[in-house]
Parts: sequence; C-alpha cells; structure tokens
Amino acid sequence: MSTTSAAILAATPAAIAEAGAALAAGRLVAFPTETVYGLGGDATCDRAVAAIFEAKGRPSFNPLIAHVASVEQAAALVDMTGPALTLARMFWPGPLTMVLPRRAGSPVSLLASAGLDSIAVRMPDHPVALALISAAGRPLAAPSANRSGAVSPTTARHVAQCLGGRVAMILDGGPCRVGVESTVIDLSGDRPALLRPGGVAVEALEAALGGPLSRPTDSPDAPRSPGQLESHYAPSLPVRLNAAEAGVGEALLGFGPGPATLNLSPSGDLAEAAANLFAMLRALDRPDLVGIAVAPVPEHGLGLAINDRLRRAAAPRGTP
Ligand code: TXA
Ligand code: MG
Repeated sequence: MSTTSAAILAATPAAIAEAGAALAAGRLVAFPTETVYGLGGDATCDRAVAAIFEAKGRPSFNPLIAHVASVEQAAALVDMTGPALTLARMFWPGPLTMVLPRRAGSPVSLLASAGLDSIAVRMPDHPVALALISAAGRPLAAPSANRSGAVSPTTARHVAQCLGGRVAMILDGGPCRVGVESTVIDLSGDRPALLRPGGVAVEALEAALGGPLSRPTDSPDAPRSPGQLESHYAPSLPVRLNAAEAGVGEALLGFGPGPATLNLSPSGDLAEAAANLFAMLRALDRPDLVGIAVAPVPEHGLGLAINDRLRRAAAPRGTP
C-alpha cells in the first residue's frame, strides 16, 4: 500500500509539544476543536498553507481561518474593530469566526487568505486546540479536516479515514462537543454580514450587535464567502430533505419523537442534533441503502446551521 496512515495520538502534553514542533517545522497536524476537527498548518508559512490546500483537494480561491489562542494574537493579524472586540469578549473562545481587515504587516500567508485584503480569525474553545496554538507559537490555518466537499469530521477516526496518509499526526481529543463549524461573519465591510451559520446562534450575534446581520440573499452583491459552494458536506448517497418517512431502501434520519433509523435528537434538542449531525450522516452512508431521508429540523438557533449543512448535502453534485 502506498498510503501510510498517520498515527492517532491521545492529546497528552507530550503529544501536544511534539505536534507543536511539527507545525513550527511546516508540517500538518489534525487537531480537535469544539466544532469539528481541523487540519492545521502554520498560517504564516506559504509552504504549509499550500500543503493544506493540497491535502484537502481544496480550490485555492477558498481562504482559510487563522486560529489564535488570544485576542492579542488576533490583533497582530487583523484590525480588531470596536464591534469585533465586543464580540470577541462575548463569544471567544468559541464557535465564532470574524472576517476582518488584514493589518499592515500581518504575518499571515497571502495564500491562506486567498489574496483577499481580509482575514478570518477564530479562537477555538478547546483546551487541546489552545495548547497546540501556543505550543506552535504561531496562528494556525485550519479548515475542517476532510477532503473538500465531503462530510466534516467530528472524531479522530473520521480524520484518519479520509486524510490519514496526508498528515504528520492526528491528535485525539474525543468527539467534538458542538459538531457543526463556526458561524462566520464579515465585519470588514460597511454592514456586518452573515457568511455561514454555525455554532453561535445568529440571534445571539444580532442581539450583541444591536441589529440584524445582512444575509447573502439580501442583495446580489452582498458579501459572500468564497467557500460557500452549493454542494458540500456530501455523503456518497443522495440526501432527501423534509421527509415524513423513509422510502423503499432509504434510511430515515429523524429529529424529535417517532421511528427513525438514527435520530439526531429524540427530544428535539438542536444542540444535541448539531453534535450528532455529521457522525450520523457518515453512519447512514451505507452501500446497502439507496438514500438518506431526513426529517424536518426547525429553522432557528442552531437549526440554521444544521439546515444549511443538510441543504448542501442534498444539493446536486458534480458542479466543479
Ligand atoms: O469551526 C470551524 O470554523 C472549523 C474549525 C476547524 O475551526 N473550520 C472551518 O474551516 O470550518 P473551513 O475552511 O472549512 O471554513 C472556513 C470558511 C469558508 O467558507 C471560507 O470561505 C470562509 O470561512 N473564509 C475564510 N476566510 C475568509 C475571508 N477572508 N473572507 C470571506 N470568507 C472567508
Ligand atoms: Mg469545511
């Protein structure tokens, strides 16, 4: 076999120190965050960032998030405007990514930000991620640790299954608590804009900002995230949304009480459903089935992020 699998290592202090040294040497390390596992590399090193795009099979026009261990570290990379500082104080560490103007002299690789004059920054709420960023001594560029377009990984084993041969090391910190990626907002323009719903509820951000976030659908030229391609998070099987029941040969992914092959949350809890979403989509992606039918999920709070991922999982495939 040509692919050698990277070792999955329990995230002990010794393993974190070793991983930090590997990152500082330009190598790639997969690590846990509270949202999904990230494929980390030195955000200030073109060669490491290029290796991330290569390992994921990701188009290089799609920029990466720079992960930091403190607000001060973020402030060295981007202009932390007033609203950004307010939101950082309220939601960091946590599943909030803010797109902000690149600071003059920012060390972040231009490849990481896809040549844009903005950079996305986030401080993850996971002790292993924070210790690793500190051990590496630099911001870490880290997309979700899956091949581009596939379902995001919420365990170390998921990472090994799709990227095993392409990373130096996989740090195991157990299953991810939140289960969907961070909420991405753009604070670099005139009006704060929502680029991707995620682990922080949009309602909470709008309350903190004291006004609505503009949405990509608001106007044709509203800010968009280059990463929001239509088909994404896709299992191999077709996905059918808002299903009342399973059709012949389909599995039913349920939400709330009632019969289901697997249930995102029998009690109808959106946080529990988000935490289960990607692992259950993987578990139902079986060759003996013809499709995955998914019960309706309410469109509020974390439901926005869940429905966003489900719509992309169900979108027509094969668009480049
Ligand atoms: O929860 C998360 O955010 C996970 C964990 C590992 O932190 N990371 C993650 O990264 O989901 P990724 O690369 O899969 O998604 C980052 C999103 C993409 O949609 C990308 O287009 C957008 O953020 N993005 C990054 N930099 C941007 C920028 N300067 N302007 C607009 N969008 C940006
Ligand atoms: Mg991703």
